[in-house]
Amino acid sequence: MILDGKGISTKLLAQYQKIVQSLSERKPSLAVLLVGEDPPSQIYVDRKTKACEHVGFKSIKKRFSESITEKNLLKEISYLNEDAQVDGILVQLPLPSHINPQKVTLAINPDKDVDGFHPLNMGKLLIGDPTGFVPCTPLGIKVLLEKTLSDLTGKHVIIIGRSIIVGKPLAALLMQREPRLNCTVTITNSYSKNLKELVAQGDILVSAVGRPLFVTADMVQEGATVIDVGINRVEEPKNNRGYRIVGDVDFEKVASKSAYITPVPGGVGPMTIAMLIHNTLKSFMQREKGKIPFQEIPL
Ligand SMILES: NC(=O)c1ccc[n+]([C@@H]2O[C@H](COP(=O)([O-])OP(=O)(O)OC[C@H]3O[C@@H](n4cnc5c(N)ncnc54)[C@H](OP(=O)(O)O)[C@@H]3O)[C@@H](O)[C@H]2O)c1
Repeated sequence: MILDGKGISTKLLAQYQKIVQSLSERKPSLAVLLVGEDPPSQIYVDRKTKACEHVGFKSIKKRFSESITEKNLLKEISYLNEDAQVDGILVQLPLPSHINPQKVTLAINPDKDVDGFHPLNMGKLLIGDPTGFVPCTPLGIKVLLEKTLSDLTGKHVIIIGRSIIVGKPLAALLMQREPRLNCTVTITNSYSKNLKELVAQGDILVSAVGRPLFVTADMVQEGATVIDVGINRVEEPKNNRGYRIVGDVDFEKVASKSAYITPVPGGVGPMTIAMLIHNTLKSFMQREKGKIPFQEIPL
């Protein structure tokens, strides 16, 4: 069965839209900062700002030239930190090489860090403090899995890839001591030995490598659930863009062996966007605490 990230995210966004419509005073606001002209980054930023507008957020898009200095970018972030009207701040990655992404992440007020990459939010995730922000892609994967399998207790999850955007926070999230969670997690990297044997043990396989056809049918356990995080451009002369987007997984062949599988596009990507809206709404509710009636943000 196909895991319909697009359908699930559309339903969640409709719920978030209703909450925003019920707010009579200030609306939530997300600032997205884009440095340079990287084409995929421009597409991601457009999708994020469109989703903001769709649910009724105030969306602030700030574009800077490739040559902006690190100091000036940090200054822009500090203005947004001080602005009481801004609930969420996101700096689109990757950044040009003269800007240190860790400095940028550290500069964002953790209370507005809706991407969840600030060390304080990463730490909160690790200790299971629910007041923090969980990075959007891992959170979207967890929601997708919970809605599909309902009980993940004791499942063995194999995660290929250990980035701080996907692999590491996802591992922390799925191993959490929580009802219907408590997964056993194995996280692999490019130095892992016997990758095939490890992957074959997974009830759930998450691939976040960034290489087309990396996961083949012979690697996957019969009846496994497969989450494909990869976004890869492959040449497609027939397509008027000249390329098409594929994941890491050999979809057709792996699908015939697995119980559930995410498509690319239409799987993890839309869930990531929905979780960004979730996190911004959560930030808004935390910041407006005591001033407006509290509303739970559904997941
Ligand atoms: N759908 C979404 O919303 C979404 C969100 C984020 C990212 N993505 C996509 O997901 C993919 C991964 O993103 P990322 O930022 O996590 O990438 P990344 O930082 O490049 O990490 C890739 C990971 O894959 C591991 N790897 C590479 N070759 C391997 C091998 N042969 N065996 C085992 N592991 C191997 C790397 O290991 P080492 O650490 O040892 O190098 C690394 O940990 C990309 O295609 C990206 O575009 C999608």
